[in-house]
Amino acid sequence: MGVGCESCHGPGGQHVEAMRQGKTDALFMPKLQKQDGKTIAEMCGRCHRTTKDATAKNLNSEHTDLFQAHGLEQSRCYREGQNKLSCTSCHDPHTSISTDEKTYNQVCLQCHAPANIPITTRLLQRRPCPINATEKCTSCHMPKRAEPVFPGSPHKVADHFIRVQKEKK
Ligand code: HEC
Ligand code: HEC
Ligand code: HEC
Ligand code: HEC
Ligand code: HEC
Repeated sequence: MGVGCESCHGPGGQHVEAMRQGKTDALFMPKLQKQDGKTIAEMCGRCHRTTKDATAKNLNSEHTDLFQAHGLEQSRCYREGQNKLSCTSCHDPHTSISTDEKTYNQVCLQCHAPANIPITTRLLQRRPCPINATEKCTSCHMPKRAEPVFPGSPHKVADHFIRVQKEKK
């Protein structure tokens, strides 16, 4: 769909030229790995739409599933997460998406694991879930639903506004 390296990394001409000449001391590429959650969400949001875009274009702000950056930006995890929650916490932009729920649980647990559970990375210590403290986080808090703007499509999209959902899942 025309999404290439430069869509995210920016222009690479100078970088290619420098590497061809063997000048490896200056890369002429900003390191995306070093960017914080907000910078990444805004970068991905150029296509996946931020709250700013949704507001500017007068789009339905209920679409926290279709506009993933907008959804994430509504979440307390993102707003109060000290800039540690990023699109790349859950997605590797260089491969296809994981549909294995377990990969996402690991991210939630980096901040919500009960204090007595040993985990590799603990970013913050926040309240664990009173319903299920260790599993299936996204099925309840980021449920996938059929999207009414695509009538008849079997594809379900995940709500990126992480929260306690009102209706039962
Ligand atoms: C959808 C956006 C996107 C596309 C397309 C993309 N990248 Fe990346 N890339 C990223 C992000 C975000 C990171 C940082 C990943 C992280 O934090 O783990 C990254 C990291 C990298 C890195 C490690 C250095 C760094 O900047 O952190 C290299 C090298 C890289 N990408 C090369 C490529 C190449 C080559 C292509 C095209 C074949 C490509 N990328 C396409 C988003 C993208
Ligand atoms: C230049 C536009 C553009 C940018 C920037 C961009 N994306 Fe995308 N992305 C797309 C398009 C187009 C698709 C395919 C259509 C769709 O699934 O909505 C897509 C699909 C995806 C998918 C689904 C892939 C799958 O295997 O089904 C994920 C996840 C995703 N993008 C995450 C990201 C993340 C994370 C970033 C930032 C690091 C990012 N995108 C930046 C345009 C972009
Ligand atoms: C806390 C984890 C998490 C974060 C952070 C996150 N996502 Fe996702 N994302 C998911 C899950 C879970 C799915 C659904 C995966 C599946 O299909 O099983 C998903 C699906 C997607 C899809 C495919 C559309 C769909 O729902 O099928 C896109 C595009 C996407 N995310 C983009 C983004 C972008 C852009 C960001 C940053 C603004 C982001 N995501 C941040 C967990 C996350
Ligand atoms: C970077 C840390 C971080 C990550 C990762 C994270 N959260 Fe949070 N989450 C927070 C913070 C901070 C709050 C605000 C409440 C607090 O401080 O206890 C919060 C609040 C919540 C709430 C309550 C929302 C509300 O509106 O009151 C739920 C539910 C939640 N998180 C679920 C999740 C799930 C599910 C995941 C993984 C998909 C996740 N969180 C990932 C930091 C995080
Ligand atoms: C079966 C659905 C379900 C699953 C699975 C689930 N949750 Fe929850 N979670 C809830 C409900 C419902 C509440 C609200 C409970 C209440 O208010 O009494 C909640 C509340 C929370 C809160 C807010 C706690 C507070 O005291 O404010 C956080 C944070 C949270 N969940 C994170 C997670 C994480 C992380 C996971 C995965 C390890 C997870 N949840 C798995 C349904 C679920």
